[in-house]
Amino acid sequence: MDNSSITPQVLDNCITKTDVPGTAPPYRGKVRDVYSLGDDKLGIVASDRISAFDHIMKQAIPYKGQILNALAAFSFSKVEDLVATHIIDVPHPNVTIAKKCAPIPIEVVIRACLTGHAARVYKSGRRTLCGVELPDGMRENQQFEEPILTPATKAEEGHDEDISEQEILERNIVDSDLWKEIRVKAFRVFERGQKIARSQGLILVDTKYEFGLYDGEVTLIDEVHTADSSRYFYADEYEERLREGKPQKQLSKEFLREWLMEQGFQGKEGQTLPDLPDSFRKKVFERYAELFKKLTGNAFDPTPVQVDELNEKLRSIFSDYR
Ligand SMILES: Nc1ncnc2c1ncn2[C@@H]1O[C@H](COP(=O)(O)OP(=O)(O)O)[C@@H](O)[C@H]1O
Ligand SMILES: [Mg+2]
Repeated sequence: MDNSSITPQVLDNCITKTDVPGTAPPYRGKVRDVYSLGDDKLGIVASDRISAFDHIMKQAIPYKGQILNALAAFSFSKVEDLVATHIIDVPHPNVTIAKKCAPIPIEVVIRACLTGHAARVYKSGRRTLCGVELPDGMRENQQFEEPILTPATKAEEGHDEDISEQEILERNIVDSDLWKEIRVKAFRVFERGQKIARSQGLILVDTKYEFGLYDGEVTLIDEVHTADSSRYFYADEYEERLREGKPQKQLSKEFLREWLMEQGFQGKEGQTLPDLPDSFRKKVFERYAELFKKLTGNAFDPTPVQVDELNEKLRSIFSDYR
């Protein structure tokens, strides 16, 4: 699919917010509207909202919710032999029915490369990140000898903050046996993600996992190996670009972060959130669709939806699962 199907009408009809008639309002995350369905299930609706630097953009990205939902479902299915996942069903392109878990309040970040936040810390001269020692003399985007775990606290509001594994245990945020299990599972899932990416000509650079407990079982929740939670580089040009000190070709939300920084926005106090021009929204859509195609091997097939129609559908879908 090319961007000719992204008409002005499609741009005007992005799913920015859902409201299911006769249902308690959802928890609205930056990207998903999360409806509680009884004691043990959630109805998670992926909207077309896009966030960067912890800010939701004023304009949405056409079909982003569908791409994210499908990519997460695909990636969850590829790791379910390694860890319990929250997936119960995907009854609509924008919707996942999930096990309602007690979330573990840590973002489990794994990095294969010195990229993004890690690279910014490194450039500032620091040589430890979340308690992990970083060797001297590394270049931006260079691979670590082994992937590293650089957790962050999942803050209720505002910025997530880096935390070391030692501190997670000392502050009793997670019990030590539980943490051991989480870290082992996270590394295994990451290794699988790298393998899948590699087989499709991509490098899985870094990612963020969230875990929860369901009936006491460690369960992978939220989303996995999507463009929002992960960075990917194209593998074929990686070595050459690294050698020549050129930026990597990326398939992820990094594209948006870079554009925002060019406009002078890094999410800091006093900075104004720029409007996303339609031409740029189309480009972001193309990136998401491209990652979907690369990773799954199938072209993304959009299902046009209007928000009113979606709200009605959600009402009927949710009543089946309550
Ligand atoms: N299976 C699950 N059980 C409980 N909470 C979940 C589950 N899956 C996702 N969540 C939570 O639902 C929210 C998803 O919405 P999102 O837009 O990603 O929110 P956020 O802005 O907090 O990142 C997140 O807070 C995530 O932790
Ligand atoms: Mg999230």
